[in-house]
Amino acid sequence: EESHRLKHTFREVLVRLFRYLGPDDLCRCSQVCSTWAELVKTGSLWRHLYPVRWARGDYYCGPPSELDQDPDEEWVQNLQEEGRAYQEWDEDADIDESEEAHEDALAMNAVQQEKRLLNGLIQNLLPAVGSSVRTVSLAYSVTVSSKMVRQILSLCPNLKHLDLTQTDITDSAFESWEELGACSSLEHLDLSGCENITDHTLKRLSLAIGDMTIPTCSKNIPDRRAKLLKASPSPVKLLDEHSTCSMGRTRQAFIFKRRPGGRGMGCSPVWVLDPAELADIEDAADWSRRGGVSAQDEEKGSILELQAGGGYITDTASSYWQQLYGALGEVQCGHSTCCSSDTAVRTVKGAQCGSQPTGDSAEFRTTCPSEGDYRTDQTGASRALRFLSLSGCYQVTDLGLRCLSQGGGLPLLEHLNLSGCLFITEIGLQELVSVCPTLNYEHFYYCDNINGPHADMASGCQNLQCGFRACCRSGD
Ligand code: FES
Repeated sequence: EESHRLKHTFREVLVRLFRYLGPDDLCRCSQVCSTWAELVKTGSLWRHLYPVRWARGDYYCGPPSELDQDPDEEWVQNLQEEGRAYQEWDEDADIDESEEAHEDALAMNAVQQEKRLLNGLIQNLLPAVGSSVRTVSLAYSVTVSSKMVRQILSLCPNLKHLDLTQTDITDSAFESWEELGACSSLEHLDLSGCENITDHTLKRLSLAIGDMTIPTCSKNIPDRRAKLLKASPSPVKLLDEHSTCSMGRTRQAFIFKRRPGGRGMGCSPVWVLDPAELADIEDAADWSRRGGVSAQDEEKGSILELQAGGGYITDTASSYWQQLYGALGEVQCGHSTCCSSDTAVRTVKGAQCGSQPTGDSAEFRTTCPSEGDYRTDQTGASRALRFLSLSGCYQVTDLGLRCLSQGGGLPLLEHLNLSGCLFITEIGLQELVSVCPTLNYEHFYYCDNINGPHADMASGCQNLQCGFRACCRSGD
């Protein structure tokens, strides 16, 4: 009994000491012995994960609130350079000893380190500590794939802060959020610059943060979920120029323009791919980047490495995901005014439909639940989202915003950035804002060309001078 208590105290003291260590030192400690390796996998030691920084020698692991939210320009530029080198990297090319080639080699090292680290986290650490993780920041990652994000989200159901700024992820990254309340503690979601994101993600987000309008004890949650899914935008199978309405095409013309420094926008039309095929496509792309090594083969050899020759955490248990893809619906342009047949908009006037807004907010009301329909929380679901940035997610439409306004709205939302969302209209904005009672208008951004809600107080578009995120005035 006594020895058991001593053992317990020893382990407790050790974990307390571990709290003073960063992720690099923790990984080294995990090599000491099996007891230490086990203790290192204590959830409270891994609350905030910044793998992109860690891969570059910055081992910050505190809460995101203490981080400078706007990383310095040079750091971002370096990451962009690394991304470029990664895209152009040819493993089989002859050895080039020029200075430029040397810089590219350094960039590739950082990128490969980042990729190994992400694989190690997913396979070895998160299966043990995922439920304790509160922050995952993958901002500016050049290697993270939708599949990786999907795995991370499956393993971290209690996330509060998720930053995916300027990554190439697609809607399929959020497949694990198809369950009602799958990530109900989420407070901060940054998808700035994620150009592949569409309404599918907003639909899943709305489900994942829970539904305040149904009691927990309700037996008909699956029915409710089915209803929500039905009311939310039908998945877009293939959106081409001809299927968009005239007002959508005016805006669409902007995004066909090639922008200097843009990442692919303007190089190809807005083809939204069939999600049922995305798994294969992203896997194929990932496969080709790995030089033909299958994911499984690569996973077998992966460990969480923070420094060359440094510590690691190993675990034989690996997690594999089933990839489920739902049935697809109709082709839609995405405007509430054009697409809502079963949830018809009562008033369809708007600047982009050729009519001037009257300024009367009642004109923008829709058949979605009125403000009075949103009851206080009866379920324990708080819909805790306070920060949402979709800046540059130019494919998002009013239907995506409508999804967010369902299930109780966003009662705690303070910051909303919709700059560069080229397909949204004042109607969608009005619908969403009407269920965001705590929105701080100074932190409310949307296109300057939309005469939307609180236009006099809102902060306008943030992407005007940005140069690398979508903006209808990027050519001005
Ligand atoms: Fe219209 Fe930036 S999106 S001003």
